[in-house]
Amino acid sequence: MRVVIEKGENEVAIRAARFVADLVRRKPACVLGLATGGTPLGMYRELIRLHREEGLDFSRVTTFNLDEYVGVPEDHPQSYRYFMQENLFKHLNVVPAKTHVPDGRSLDFEASCRRYEQMIQEAGGIDLQVLGVGRDGHIAFNEPGSSLGSRTRVKSLTGETIRDNARFFGSEDQVPRLAITMGVGTILESQRCLLLATGAAKASAIRSTIEGPITAQITASALQLHRDVIVVLDEEAGSWLTRREYYAEVERAQTLLEAGQLHELGIGNP
Ligand code: F6R
Repeated sequence: MRVVIEKGENEVAIRAARFVADLVRRKPACVLGLATGGTPLGMYRELIRLHREEGLDFSRVTTFNLDEYVGVPEDHPQSYRYFMQENLFKHLNVVPAKTHVPDGRSLDFEASCRRYEQMIQEAGGIDLQVLGVGRDGHIAFNEPGSSLGSRTRVKSLTGETIRDNARFFGSEDQVPRLAITMGVGTILESQRCLLLATGAAKASAIRSTIEGPITAQITASALQLHRDVIVVLDEEAGSWLTRREYYAEVERAQTLLEAGQLHELGIGNP
């Protein structure tokens, strides 16, 4: 895992957007896995800025969102489709038919979940999956106890997630109890994962994700099994990590390597 600790939320947004933008430039027809929630909003704003000011082209990009509430129509202000539309898609030149969010209205859950997995496969798999993490360590809606091999399916939200998401719905009893979510196994098949976290409320989940044992009780910890994960944190979210200095050292070396400044690392002649 590459752990990048930035000063604050703003720096996290800019850094994370750079990883996405680099991929879009390198592979214009890439497949992005996207998340909703408060965490990626800054990164989405930065991608919109890069599109407007630097011409970052999303016309060949395909997207798949992690999850959607069950029973919430697409045009409901709290549906994840609506969230993506308002906060990202409508500001980019992405082709609407290439943007995918699980279908929360289909009552044939099994078929629609299978179809979602199939569409990801047909698109060639996800190149970069953006993830946030819940305070209980969930990724997507893979709540504690979810199988680490799980696929796209229907999940019941935990009380903690319902309480956390009540801020968007006005009250707890308005929050849907079920969601369709990519599974941990689905997420682990992405070529690269980009996990973002900001704020002190995420410090415990982040410590468990990065430094704790791999357990279905913290589904984000399954990312330790993935060969290419970048975690971008602000100082608060990283504040419970015990190996912060080492991560900073690795990051410094990585930056110098990427810049070709090998002599700074004691390699070759100055
Ligand atoms: C959203 C999602 C969730 C959130 C997580 C953190 O699509 O899959 O796992 O990433 O609940 O939410 P925020 O960013 O609002 O703290």
